[in-house]
Amino acid sequence: MKYTAIIPAAGMGSRMGINFNKIFIKIGETPIIRMTVEKFQNDPNCEAVHLAGREGEIDSLHEMLAGLSKVKGIHIGGAERQDSIFNALKALSPTDYVFIHDGARPFVRQETLSALSEAVVKNDSVICGVKPKDTLKMISDNQVQETVDRENVIIVHTPQAFRYDLIMDAHENAAEQNLAVTDDSMMMEALGYRVHVVPSSYDNIKITTEEDLKVAESILKKESELDV
Ligand code: CTP
Ligand code: MG
Repeated sequence: MKYTAIIPAAGMGSRMGINFNKIFIKIGETPIIRMTVEKFQNDPNCEAVHLAGREGEIDSLHEMLAGLSKVKGIHIGGAERQDSIFNALKALSPTDYVFIHDGARPFVRQETLSALSEAVVKNDSVICGVKPKDTLKMISDNQVQETVDRENVIIVHTPQAFRYDLIMDAHENAAEQNLAVTDDSMMMEALGYRVHVVPSSYDNIKITTEEDLKVAESILKKESELDV
């Protein structure tokens, strides 16, 4: 199978508390966004990468991704993550499968990409995630309502993998219905599609706040030790 990756990178990174887009922060020597795109450059099933970037940052993104031959387009993002993804989706030529992956998740593993590739051919819509390590409770007004069975819950990561025609329909539907979502799977769920789940790794963090930078440095160290 072959897929096209869409990588939204048009956010602000406001929770990072800095005055520039967090995807430009370097972990070790490399900007987060380049580390992320390299994972797709190295996956044999990925044939193209399209990004969404902030207006005014498109040239910097091109510079930062120089030499990564699978990068085929950097499109202007929108106000929300889902708008950025939809803009990139609309710019693609039709393809069989699309993987949507946060620009701020540079530690996705090849085994996760491979598991998604294998599963999407059979299941059309596939997400990845990890089991929570803590106890989970439903609450309301600071009162515990019930304890959630951890076996029935996952913490959802990206990439999320979809058949191209289905995710296009789902984004069109979400735009028409003004549906606000926190991931692309929610759009498929809204249309009644079944979404399959495969494992992700605990390392596949989304770099969101300052504390995540220290964790990211240590994951990078572990990654480079595994490489040698
Ligand atoms: N993103 C995007 N367009 C937006 C908002 C977010 O392309 N309008 C991207 C981000 O660049 C990031 C990914 O979606 O790679 C996940 O979003 P998040 O981690 O929330 O990043 P930000 O929105 O930039 O951060 P914050 O919410 O703290 O401002
Ligand atoms: Mg955000």
